[in-house]
Amino acid sequence: MSAPVILSELARELASEATSDPTSQPTLELIPHHAADVRRHARTDTLRVALLGCGNIGGALVGAVDPSLGIEIVSALVRDPARVRPLPASRVRTRIADVLADRPDVIVECLGGIDDPAAMCERALAAGIDVVTANKSMLANALPALAAAAARGGAVLHVDASVCAGVPVLDAVARLRWARIRSISGIVNGTCNFILDSLAQVGATFDGAVQEAVRRGYAEPDPSADLSGRDSVEKACLLAAAAGFGAVRPGQVAVQSLVGPDGGPSLADIIALRGLGVAVRCVVRVEWTADGLLLRVAPTVLDAGDPLAMARGTENLVTVDTELAGTVTLRGPGAGANPTVAALLADLMACRERRAGWATLVPLAPAHVVSAAREERVVACVSEWRKSPAELLEIARGVGVELRGCEFRRESAVVDVVGSRVALDAAMTRLRAAGAGVRAFAAGEGLGLG
Ligand SMILES: NC(=O)c1ccc[n+]([C@@H]2O[C@H](COP(=O)([O-])OP(=O)(O)OC[C@H]3O[C@@H](n4cnc5c(N)ncnc54)[C@H](OP(=O)(O)O)[C@@H]3O)[C@@H](O)[C@H]2O)c1
Repeated sequence: MSAPVILSELARELASEATSDPTSQPTLELIPHHAADVRRHARTDTLRVALLGCGNIGGALVGAVDPSLGIEIVSALVRDPARVRPLPASRVRTRIADVLADRPDVIVECLGGIDDPAAMCERALAAGIDVVTANKSMLANALPALAAAAARGGAVLHVDASVCAGVPVLDAVARLRWARIRSISGIVNGTCNFILDSLAQVGATFDGAVQEAVRRGYAEPDPSADLSGRDSVEKACLLAAAAGFGAVRPGQVAVQSLVGPDGGPSLADIIALRGLGVAVRCVVRVEWTADGLLLRVAPTVLDAGDPLAMARGTENLVTVDTELAGTVTLRGPGAGANPTVAALLADLMACRERRAGWATLVPLAPAHVVSAAREERVVACVSEWRKSPAELLEIARGVGVELRGCEFRRESAVVDVVGSRVALDAAMTRLRAAGAGVRAFAAGEGLGLG
């Protein structure tokens, strides 16, 4: 069972909470066609997808959908129908009722905001239409009501794209809840991390780093949602929900802004901390304690060896500490259109799989397997070499192996070489014929030797 379905179980729990609270009862009418119609329609091979919003994310998703995926974008809701879009004008809509009349199987919400998208998504879910969203603000504020609507309509709400973009953090956390999560620690705001990381450079200032984050498009022109911690707070709520800790409102998370009364951290702070072997990062902490759930977002000093201190630039990094599965770490680019689209596509394919059944989707044609790369990089430890270093290098060059680096000691050497498998084997055969012992190792990605 895929993680979004696990999240829908969570959604049912949240729904029961939501429906017991009269203030959170959905008030919208169902769309005119009922859920059974939607399901009959969904039995076709192609997944009919409607977008709510066709800006950065919606537009990038249109560009990434290719017919081989079995997905058709049937319409898109926008504010301004006159603007040029990456899909035909005949598919552009300005009223949610017209989008629903297109009878989509799935709606991808990429509007932004809270109340309008929540009302539209509730309406779709209650009518049995699955919803995929990257909108953390809507989810953090309206998850119980959305979950109630999904439970009523028998639809699934897919949320993985809303936290850490293409890094499947919510899916992983939802699976790990069965390993009994003790705590989650994470760097989930790439903008703050970029600013803190930039401060490590000579001459950097906090304001300069903020401006650079805006210039590069990492931060909004108004970066207050990132700097105040609000963005991380919303993500903390979703991490807690995915972990099975229950529904949390943003106001329940203790938060400390990156900008204190004396301004943001300075290069001098970073240098002073580094001198003590520690680093500062904006950390989200979700911890299950004997007293209840602890939720905090704060600039945090970490041991330099802490995995969270390793996050570079706009990277996101989340560690999940569990009783049964130990500590699990996820790391990668946590923002941007392409990583977000990757997560939305994965959720869309999960919708398609759920409707079509796995058997029709698992690719059973033989895979084209390439057993070895054309060129390989190898680190070889050569022992009992009683000839000169030059003679060893001559053997390597003689069979077409390129030398990247080498270190000679008495009668031994470590050589870092690149070549075809045939050339590498020939070099090793010649070395052994000359009386040497050779142990070869594959070189790890990014290894730096000599
Ligand atoms: N950008 C990213 O890198 C990123 C990454 C992860 C998650 N997200 C999330 O993805 C969502 C969308 O972000 P985005 O950057 O794509 O925003 P965007 O570029 O501003 O696009 C928003 C789209 O929604 C439409 N829209 C907004 N309100 C509407 C309304 N009330 N009725 C009809 N149409 C409406 C806009 O129409 P017009 O085009 O006519 O104005 C536009 O097409 C947000 O929730 C954001 O947090 C974004």
